[in-house]
Amino acid sequence: MKTYAIIPAAGSGARFKNDIPKPLVLLKGKEIFVYSLEVFEKSSFIDGMVVIAPADRCQEFENVIKKYSFKKPIKVVAGGNSRYESVSNGLKVLDPNIDFVLVHDGARPLVSLKVVEEAINMAYATKAVVVGVPVKPTIKRIDPRAKEIDTTLDRNILWEAQTPQVFAYELLMQAHRQGVGLDVEATDDAFLVERFGAKVKMIEGEYRNIKITTPEDLKIAEALLE
Ligand code: CTP
Ligand code: MG
Repeated sequence: MKTYAIIPAAGSGARFKNDIPKPLVLLKGKEIFVYSLEVFEKSSFIDGMVVIAPADRCQEFENVIKKYSFKKPIKVVAGGNSRYESVSNGLKVLDPNIDFVLVHDGARPLVSLKVVEEAINMAYATKAVVVGVPVKPTIKRIDPRAKEIDTTLDRNILWEAQTPQVFAYELLMQAHRQGVGLDVEATDDAFLVERFGAKVKMIEGEYRNIKITTPEDLKIAEALLE
């Protein structure tokens, strides 16, 4: 099975509030997005990687990647204004003969090889897989105007979606094509596949696979790496 990884890393990092783009920020001396590439380099299931970089930073990303002498083919592609556009740009450069696509946020450096390979194996069987974790807190749905609670959701059926997310190539292509002009923000790829009407399997990942979103997340990641 030919499987490629797309790593969207073209976001503006608005909530991180930093001068250099979030994926280039150093975590224990290494650029945040490089951690994921190292995991994919190790997996015998993955044939190559496509890194989505901010349009004006592609050369910089290329230079960083060069420093680490990866053996697998890695392409750097310019992203778009939304995560959806960024992943779509990555899909466009893939060889149409591949079988599976794994999408993983460049902002999740703590993903493990075990989780990556479990997700890929499950996708080979079911075509669409999301890695997630059961939510720990009590989640309430609120009325956003009144800031009053509508209802308390049943925690037993709530999971937080993470990445990696792995899909059969043709399924993800179709779901993305149908997502053109969508008026709600697709914050992950499973959302598009769900809308397309396909079943998506959720498998249990790891709580440590956090997304670096705000500055305190970087501190948490540092602590988790110790
Ligand atoms: N991403 C992307 N292209 C975009 C927006 C997001 O490739 N136009 C990527 C980010 O670089 C990140 C992942 O999607 O690796 C998850 O997005 P998020 O954590 O929201 O990162 P940002 O969009 O950069 O942050 P913010 O929403 O705070 O601006
Ligand atoms: Mg974002």
